Formats: sequence, C-alpha cells, structure tokens
Amino acid sequence: MDIHDEEIKEFIEIFASLSTYNFSDYSEKSFRRRMEKIVNDNNCSLSDIIKKAKNNTTFLEKIVRDITVNTTELFRDPKVWLEIQKEIIPKLKELDTINLWHAGCSSGQELYSMLMFMNENGLLEKTRTIGTDINTEILEEAAKGNYKYRFNVEYLPNFDQVLNVIQEKEKIPYSKYMDIDQSKDSIKIKPFLLNKAEFLKHDLVKDKNVFGRKFDFIICRNVLIYFNNNLQNKIFDMFWDNLNEGGFLVIGLHESIMGSTSAKFIKKGQCYIKKSANG
Ligand SMILES: C[S@@+](CC[C@H](N)C(=O)[O-])C[C@H]1O[C@@H](n2cnc3c(N)ncnc32)[C@H](O)[C@@H]1O
Repeated sequence: MDIHDEEIKEFIEIFASLSTYNFSDYSEKSFRRRMEKIVNDNNCSLSDIIKKAKNNTTFLEKIVRDITVNTTELFRDPKVWLEIQKEIIPKLKELDTINLWHAGCSSGQELYSMLMFMNENGLLEKTRTIGTDINTEILEEAAKGNYKYRFNVEYLPNFDQVLNVIQEKEKIPYSKYMDIDQSKDSIKIKPFLLNKAEFLKHDLVKDKNVFGRKFDFIICRNVLIYFNNNLQNKIFDMFWDNLNEGGFLVIGLHESIMGSTSAKFIKKGQCYIKKSANG
C-alpha cells in the first residue's frame, strides 16, 4: 500500500504528541519501509494505526517496537571484534576500572559477547557494563539472557571466530559461558555473566547522560544507520561528551562518522578514539 509523505509526517507528529518518542530525524527511507511493513502486517491504513494508537497505549508501544529493528547476534561481525582486540584491549588493560556502555543493545547478545570477550582478556572483574535501548520489552529479554536455540544457533560459529582466535591456548567450549539445550530450544547465558549486566531504558534521540558517569568504551552498532545525518552527528557529539579522554567508540560495519564531528575522533577501522577538546 502506498503511503504519502504527508501521512508519514502526520504520523510522526501525532506519535510525538502521544508519547515520548520522536521519529522526526529517523532516516526517511528506512522509516518509510518500516511504516509500509506495519501497514501491510496490520492490513489497514496509516490513519487507522494512528486512531488505534491514540486510544491504546499497548498498541502504541507495539508500533514503536515494530518501527525499531531489533536484529542482533552473538559476536556480530567477528572482524570488528578482532579490531577491538587489536586497537582497544591493550589500552583497556592499563585502566583500573572499565566503564562500558552498549547503546541500542537490543536483546543483549552483543553485551554478553562483550563480557565473554572481556573474560578471555582477563578484564571481566574490572569491567562495569550497562546496556540501554529504547524498547523496554527487549531489555527484559536481555536481562534474562535466555535465547531460542533455533534463532541463535547460526551465530555460534562467530564465537569461535572471535574467542578461539584471540585465545590460542585451548579451545574454549560454549559451555564455559552458555547452557545450550537443543531439545528445550534454549541457550542460557551463565549466571556469572547475567550478574555483571545492567540494563536501562534510554532514548538516544532525547536522553543525555542518565548514568552519572563517563565511559571508557561506548559501543553503538547498527542503531544510527536508522537515523538521518543530522541526528547521527548529534548523537556522536553526545557520545564524545560521555567518553573519558582517549575513550573508544565502536560503530557498525556500515556506519561512519562524517562531517565536522569526525575531527573529534581518530579512526581505526570501526574503532574511534576520542581526541581531547583542543585536538
Ligand atoms: C538493529 S538493533 C542493533 C543491536 C546491536 N547493537 C547489534 O548491532 O547487534 C538496533 C537497536 O536500536 C534500538 N533503538 C532504535 N532507536 C533507538 C533510540 N532512539 N534509542 C535507543 N535505542 C534505539 C532498537 O530498539 C534496537 O534494539
């Protein structure tokens, strides 16, 4: 079904007035694609969706979940993890404590991968990590760390391509970090990792630092790709403000920092290092 630009504009305005969500700076193309899918899945018009959302907060939250894409995986893009190993881990080893923020962490696989990665680097104990997302339901899933085997099994080889490359001494079994039971269709993250994870609702569009601390390492992958350039730059500036001097930012494989904000960072692959305010 064709959706007119005016309808999308109206949708965004009404959603902003009904809730705390502001999609006005999301990338037009991908936002339109999501809206078309929502309209098709619900088999109604965009104005029907707006009408229903006005009277039904549960439905409104469901639409927000449908707009935001939650795809994630264990050790997504192994190549980036190997870059982190080379560019970031040696510096983190010099710190007494490591404050880490996963912005847009979805159901948590990325954050738990990081905790496994830190453990193999002997850094788990001094790592304090927080995962944030706009979607509260997905955060509840993240905190449980209990995933469907059938949806995650294809990503287990990423584990080997990262952990069994950085750690050459012995082959690391999945059972060190996860209880896998194919017959119950379950992959459960071990409690010692669950206990290290903290999750909080945070909207990158409007919330600033709600954590009361700065970070040594921010990882925000495959989130800003859904935003327009203007909003991306605002968020990169916000990350810069929230990083300690010399701190690291890692973004997605198909994302980059462009324009004037790029001068605030030194780029090494997908790893960015915060420059000080005076260069
Ligand atoms: C595609 S997932 C990426 C997950 C993970 N970082 C990865 O790369 O595998 C994008 C996540 O960004 C979240 N998100 C979208 N808009 C957001 C916003 N304004 N603030 C915080 N999170 C947002 C979505 O809810 C979703 O969980």
